[in-house]
Amino acid sequence: MSSRIVVLISGGGTNLQAIIDACTDSAYPGEVVGVISNRADAYGLTRAKNADIANVALSHKDFASRADYDQALIKVIDGFDADLIVLAGFMRILTPSFVQHFQGKLLNIHPSLLPKYQGLNTHQRAIDAGDDVHGVSVHFVTEELDGGPVILQAKVPVFEGDNSDDLAARVHEQEHRIYPLVVKWFAKQRLSMQGDHAVLDNNILPASGYAND
Ligand code: GAR
Repeated sequence: MSSRIVVLISGGGTNLQAIIDACTDSAYPGEVVGVISNRADAYGLTRAKNADIANVALSHKDFASRADYDQALIKVIDGFDADLIVLAGFMRILTPSFVQHFQGKLLNIHPSLLPKYQGLNTHQRAIDAGDDVHGVSVHFVTEELDGGPVILQAKVPVFEGDNSDDLAARVHEQEHRIYPLVVKWFAKQRLSMQGDHAVLDNNILPASGYAND
């Protein structure tokens, strides 16, 4: 049976596109049934329309508080009867009650080698720190911002003279490889969150995930 995937975005949606593309393979065990953006002008919504996927713009500006917004978001997601919620460039801090509602079913992609550089401006921070390796992490979402158990990372080199756009492009390329893979693991029920750990094929994954080179 195919897993019902809801993707949350705020922007261009290239990771969304990578997952949509993966789902076009009939052997892929999931289907994107809905896309939700907190920004009505997010290009990712157009990607959803182009793929005939239900899409919803739910602006945080229409709600008095973060808690109210998250409750409304829960309702929309539940309306899709989702097995998995994929955060793909969804630039919102989530309330504990939102995270608890979807505990174990929420994935995020973050453009750094977590636990390094939680939060924003990760590429510039890696350059400023003089790192020669940077990368991306897919992790389960917990109440700690960018703090949940890592499932898979990919590394990229930082070259002399790189600016943050160079690095973002290099990281994006890896994001599009690893996110559909992790979603596939989850959809095949090979992956779960148990306590503070990500578990793949009954093995507790190490802090840096399944593989990181
Ligand atoms: C991606 O690089 C993702 O890692 C990042 O936003 C970008 C979205 O790109 N996410 C975060 O920074 C979350 N804190 P996309 O819209 O092209 O998929």
